[in-house]
Amino acid sequence: MPSFKLDDAEIPFEPGDTIIRAAERVGVDIPHYCWHPGLSVAANCRMCLVEIEPPPGRPAMMLDVLEWNAEKHDYVPQKKPKLQPACQFAAADGLVVKSQSSTHVARARQSVQELLLLNHPVDCPICDQAGECRLQDYWLEHQGTKKRMRDEPIHKPKAVVFGPTIVYDAERCIVCTRCVRFCDEVAKDPVLSVRERGNLNEIVVSPGRQLDHPYTLMTEHVCPVGALTAIDFRFKARVWFLRSVRTVCVGCATGCNSFTDYDPRSQNVHRYRPRHNANVNQYWMCDDGMLDYRRINEHRVLIAQVDGEPTAREAALARAADLFAAAPPETTAVVLSAEHSLEDNFALLELARDGLKTQNVYFSGRAPGEGDNVLRDADKNPNTSGVRKLAPMAKPFADLVRAAEEGKLTHVLALGSQAPSDASALAKIRHLVAIATHQGPFEEHAEIVLPAASWAEAEGSFVNRQGITQESERAVSPYGDSRPAFRWVHELRLALDRPPAWKKLGELRAAMQPAALPTGARP
Ligand code: SF4
Ligand code: SF4
Ligand code: FES
Repeated sequence: MPSFKLDDAEIPFEPGDTIIRAAERVGVDIPHYCWHPGLSVAANCRMCLVEIEPPPGRPAMMLDVLEWNAEKHDYVPQKKPKLQPACQFAAADGLVVKSQSSTHVARARQSVQELLLLNHPVDCPICDQAGECRLQDYWLEHQGTKKRMRDEPIHKPKAVVFGPTIVYDAERCIVCTRCVRFCDEVAKDPVLSVRERGNLNEIVVSPGRQLDHPYTLMTEHVCPVGALTAIDFRFKARVWFLRSVRTVCVGCATGCNSFTDYDPRSQNVHRYRPRHNANVNQYWMCDDGMLDYRRINEHRVLIAQVDGEPTAREAALARAADLFAAAPPETTAVVLSAEHSLEDNFALLELARDGLKTQNVYFSGRAPGEGDNVLRDADKNPNTSGVRKLAPMAKPFADLVRAAEEGKLTHVLALGSQAPSDASALAKIRHLVAIATHQGPFEEHAEIVLPAASWAEAEGSFVNRQGITQESERAVSPYGDSRPAFRWVHELRLALDRPPAWKKLGELRAAMQPAALPTGARP
């Protein structure tokens, strides 16, 4: 593999790589603002300048400069190497590049940083980007000096509402154009552009438009400073109080990789952020997915119910066990859920086969919605592929409705909250027990409801539309009386005196292997 030298390190590169891309791939950071690995190169911030040694026998490209000489009390002519933007300069075999080891580069970065902060309000204490802002980080790393300018800074528009989700502060903007390029290249809606020149320039929304495509929160996420802020998150939390776990978005079948940021003190989830996965979502997520954390707190079922009345969970479990202890296998069924993890579905399927001795298996999930050619899938369930692989014989929801209407089902144990179509026929099932995270048709018609932990409160694996199995970590403890659905199934089996072979999640996962787990790369 061809390689070049960056300071003391040998950096391999792939054809078409720039210096910064190749360095990033092996974990070496070259400071940058405008470059983003998922966007085209703009090379406008000049923060990534590096010194490139000329090939043997060729003179270095030098610039004439004037430098202040303290002894002479005058500027004197000097020469310095012409620095190159690492985000634009193509990697070449045998190239010798200086980044950290060049005093010219250090001075250039210091000057770029000082220029960018010249008119910046430096209002970090009230800025939502504080704690994850490149201006802050690079000031500390590459500048560290106080502001020298004594003139009144240029003032620009503040708190400009770009659309339903995003607010813009032109004074904090370094006009790197990442947001402009993201809208154009990824969201395919070139709704942002740059107006004016020099230190008067700012980002504007096209006349007659709003920033309202399905990826507006990513537009904010690519902003390296606090110029774009999300209405949903601004002034809600300080990022240094938040912790993150590696999760998978459950908003649709794409299964975008995400970070779930939560406050360990309050056990509240505050936001989802994209996590890079070249095979699934690249660097991106959609607005629906990034705001999907709200469902963790909306319309939840947090207390067990029997006949619509709140009940202690032990009592509800005992009632459910009584019902299924005497259930005739031929009129008993389980309903798997494409909303839930493989672990939850596997536990229920095993109960159907070994505990209830029934062949009647159906599956349900959320109704389809809007999809697109970027990321969003019309299937709004995270695990349709997983349920299909786990239980190819499972019949669709329409068959469950038909069987219920024909009075063929007396005892049904259903996982999940939502149904893809009209579910009023569920009322005809004599004994319906639902293990549900949220209110919905199953919870509404159930005789007994057992509250299930949401995806943020439990570990789980999901198989996305490409057949890739992805694990999602637990962020917070189960809310209320809820617990992971596979735990409810375990307890129900103990109460039925038909215990499974597994007790812990690890043992359950081992039991799922290898037949149940579809093949596919793990990120
Ligand atoms: S708003 Fe942010 S992303 Fe857009 S140009 Fe300004 S600094 Fe860059
Ligand atoms: S495309 Fe689907 S999986 Fe990806 S963020 Fe949006 S809702 Fe979530
Ligand atoms: S990262 Fe902005 S010029 Fe290279």
